[in-house]
Amino acid sequence: MRNFIRRANRLPVFAYPAYQRLFPVLKSLAFALVSLFCFQDHASAKEACLTCHESLANEKVVHAALKMGCQTCHTAIDAREVPHKKSGKAPRGLSADQPGLCYGCHDKTRFMKPHVHAAVGMGCTGCHNPHSSKNPKLLLSEVPDLCYTCHDKKKFSGKSVHAPVGIGMCGSCHDPHASKNAKLLTAEQPDLCFTCHEQKGFGGKNIHAPVAGGMCLGCHRPHAAEFPVLLHKEPMDVCLECHADVRKKPHAVSGFSPLGGHPLGEPKRMKQSRERKYLDDPSRPGRRFYCGSCHFPHGSDNPRLLRGTDFGLCQICHKK
Ligand code: HEC
Ligand code: HEC
Ligand code: HEC
Ligand code: HEC
Ligand code: HEC
Ligand code: HEC
Ligand code: HEC
Ligand code: HEC
Ligand code: HEC
Ligand code: HEC
Ligand code: HEC
Repeated sequence: MRNFIRRANRLPVFAYPAYQRLFPVLKSLAFALVSLFCFQDHASAKEACLTCHESLANEKVVHAALKMGCQTCHTAIDAREVPHKKSGKAPRGLSADQPGLCYGCHDKTRFMKPHVHAAVGMGCTGCHNPHSSKNPKLLLSEVPDLCYTCHDKKKFSGKSVHAPVGIGMCGSCHDPHASKNAKLLTAEQPDLCFTCHEQKGFGGKNIHAPVAGGMCLGCHRPHAAEFPVLLHKEPMDVCLECHADVRKKPHAVSGFSPLGGHPLGEPKRMKQSRERKYLDDPSRPGRRFYCGSCHFPHGSDNPRLLRGTDFGLCQICHKK
């Protein structure tokens, strides 16, 4: 632009006195032309917009799209007047509705997998600020608080909370946008669990049928539970859900016990106080006695998933 003016200065026609007097007029005309060009140049138009909308681009993380000018997205705003004139159907003078607006620059296929987060359909700005943000990835707030703006936080707390949930790593199991797996999971069951829990811990000569079938969630909650070890019920009741028969006849020691079998893990009525208390597991300090005291829940080299063989099993607890 400066070159243009400099070249204008060198033009021989300006040697004539009449034109020379006209020169200041021509010069300002040239400036007007130049500033018209400037206004169409998005970068400096952005500066113009920011004189009034400064706070939009102030935060630590700024959307790279802003460098291309406000009017890459707000194509239908005429800001020469305030309030601005808006044309087009999309709100706020935008070139398109969301998410189409964002797909103009961001690969659509990433958001079009078989399972799409309903929040994406509601618009990307439910989670991202389109201009700038104090949080990484332009997020409105950090994960997990972001998730709790729409999902009830109470469902992610309880007496036992899964470690990655407790530290807010929702992204370790869910894609926030879309996934080929149901529930936006980053991997299928049970492979998802094995990304953090070593698979060989669930093996043995005998693998419990629901574990072999990958049904970890048949017994555990993925986020949090009111019962120990993320179980969705009292531990004994989890087992009885599928093995109701066990309770119908004396179990394990019917021949020995005059009382009709070994206790299974139900609370016992105390002699003095008459209140019912759960028994402790003599072999595992701090744990409650129940089916899992004699059986491994996942797998074992012993038959019947037992924690010991023959009399050895009894001796884990009855040491005499
Ligand atoms: C990547 C596209 C994009 C760019 C670039 C962009 N905007 Fe926006 N802008 C949006 C979207 C989307 C909304 C609507 C947000 C909503 O409804 O939640 C918006 C809303 C606004 C609003 C309404 C108030 C608000 O905060 O929601 C103003 C003002 C605004 N933009 C100004 C600007 C200015 C000034 C620039 C340049 C510095 C700019 N925009 C650049 C996408 C963009
Ligand atoms: C002279 C100050 C000023 C300038 C310059 C300015 N704006 Fe605004 N803008 C405002 C005010 C005041 C409002 C709120 C009133 C309104 O809704 O129009 C506003 C509102 C907006 C909105 C929201 C409209 C809506 O539907 O809610 C957008 C988007 C916007 N401006 C974009 C821009 C862009 C893009 C530019 C630069 C091309 C720009 N503004 C330049 C003062 C300004
Ligand atoms: C005009 C092009 C353009 C449009 C339209 C656009 N973006 Fe971007 N966006 C970019 C570029 C360029 C980057 C930086 C390179 C990258 O990360 O892909 C970026 C990066 C991002 C990032 C990552 C920021 C970071 O710090 O890593 C997010 C989140 C984002 N955009 C969201 C959106 C949303 C939401 C919309 C729609 C409201 C949108 N973009 C529309 C060009 C655009
Ligand atoms: C439910 C909230 C939510 C919605 C809705 C959402 N995002 Fe995101 N987005 C996130 C989170 C969380 C991250 C950070 C992921 C990470 O750090 O691994 C992210 C990251 C991104 C990134 C940068 C990192 C990357 O994966 O490349 C882009 C770009 C992006 N989102 C674009 C969009 C667009 C475009 C839309 C709308 C089609 C959208 N997002 C809708 C939550 C959301
Ligand atoms: C803007 C609101 C909003 C935000 C923020 C949001 N979600 Fe959602 N999410 C929804 C809606 C709506 C549904 C569908 C209804 C439902 O299942 O509750 C949904 C469903 C889900 C589902 C189940 C998907 C399915 O296929 O059944 C998962 C998983 C999920 N969200 C995870 C997240 C995570 C992780 C975050 C934080 C990164 C998050 N959401 C943030 C609105 C939101
Ligand atoms: C260890 C992996 C893991 C982590 C971490 C995790 N989730 Fe999930 N989430 C799952 C699994 C597995 C399901 C599917 C449950 C089912 O199918 O019954 C699920 C389901 C969901 C659903 C759908 C509602 C439902 O119960 O079916 C939402 C919403 C959700 N998760 C949100 C979140 C949020 C928010 C966070 C972070 C606070 C989070 N998840 C962390 C594994 C996880
Ligand atoms: C992102 C890593 C990660 C993934 C994925 C994951 N876990 Fe965990 N899980 C942990 C960590 C860390 C702990 C706590 C340390 C430990 O006990 O190993 C834990 C502990 C547990 C516990 C014991 C909780 C307690 O209170 O003692 C159970 C049960 C569990 N996970 C089940 C699952 C199931 C089922 C899945 C698949 C749906 C899964 N985990 C996926 C990281 C993960
Ligand atoms: C039949 C119900 C059941 C199934 C299915 C099941 N679990 Fe468990 N799981 C339990 C019980 C009960 C415990 C507590 C055992 C105890 O009392 O020590 C447990 C404990 C755990 C623990 C805590 C550490 C440990 O070994 O004591 C993790 C981690 C775990 N399970 C992960 C998984 C994963 C991953 C799957 C799927 C591959 C799975 N579980 C399938 C019932 C089950
Ligand atoms: C989701 C249903 C389900 C739950 C919950 C469940 N089981 Fe099983 N269990 C099965 C199935 C199916 C089999 C294999 C069929 C059979 O032998 O009856 C099995 C077999 C067994 C066996 C016999 C294994 C063998 O080698 O003969 C034992 C012992 C056992 N389960 C103990 C438990 C214990 C202890 C719990 C609680 C931690 C439990 N089960 C919870 C479904 C379940
Ligand atoms: C004191 C240890 C002990 C406790 C507690 C215990 N079991 Fe057993 N269980 C055994 C032994 C020993 C066997 C093997 C009996 C046999 O092979 O004849 C067995 C066998 C089984 C079998 C295989 C088929 C059958 O019915 O005999 C199942 C299923 C089973 N138990 C489930 C359970 C469940 C469910 C609970 C809790 C409600 C439980 N067990 C509590 C020791 C125990
Ligand atoms: C995991 C620990 C554990 C194992 C293994 C175990 N027991 Fe027990 N046993 C207990 C507990 C706890 C009680 C209840 C004590 C009480 O009532 O205070 C009990 C009670 C008994 C009783 C008394 C029955 C009653 O109703 O008062 C007999 C008999 C018995 N066990 C025999 C056996 C035999 C035989 C085996 C091997 C097959 C065995 N136990 C394996 C923990 C165990």
